Amino acid sequence: MSIEEANLLLNDWVTNERLRLHMKQVAANMKAWAEEKENADEHLAKKWELAGLLHDADWEKYPDQHCRIIIEELESRNIDPEVIQCIASHGPGYFGVEPQSKMDKMIYAIDELSGFVHAAALIRPTLYEGLEVKSVLKRLKSPAFAAQVSREDINDAVSRIDVTLEELIQFIIDHQKAVN
Ligand SMILES: [Fe+2]
Repeated sequence: MSIEEANLLLNDWVTNERLRLHMKQVAANMKAWAEEKENADEHLAKKWELAGLLHDADWEKYPDQHCRIIIEELESRNIDPEVIQCIASHGPGYFGVEPQSKMDKMIYAIDELSGFVHAAALIRPTLYEGLEVKSVLKRLKSPAFAAQVSREDINDAVSRIDVTLEELIQFIIDHQKAVN
C-alpha cells in the first residue's frame, strides 16, 4: 500500500478532523523517527509512516471493535505483517497484543504523547512556537489537563524504550508542529 492509498483510506474512514490530524501527526513522528534515529531506508521508513497513518482508522466508525476492523481490512489488502502487528500492538493494555519490535514500541509511546503535546500546544496563543518540554512535563503532572490521556500508559510505553520522556517530547514538538 502506498502512502497515497493510505491517505485515501484515512480520509474515507475518518471524518473527524481532529482524529485525522492526530493520525497524520503520529505518522510524521514515526517517519521522522525511523529516518533520523533508526537509520531506516525509504522502504522501512514507509512502513513506520503507514502504521502511524492507519493506526486509528477504525476508531471513529467502530469504537467497540478498534483495531480489529482496520486489521481485517489491511490483511485483506495484503499489507506487510510488520505494519499490521505494529497497529495491533499500539495499545497493549486495551487490545492484548504486546509491542515487540522497535516500531511497535515507538508507536505506543508516540501515540500517547503526540496527542498530549498537541493539547499542550493548543492552549497557547503561539501554539507550538516556544513550547518547551518542561511545560509539557508540568501539564503531565496535572491530572485535570487532558485527563483522558493515560499517564500510566505514557510511563509504561516510555519504560519499554531506551529514550527518555524529555527526549521524546522534544522530538514530537519538533516534528509534528508543521503537520496541520
Ligand atoms: Fe492514536
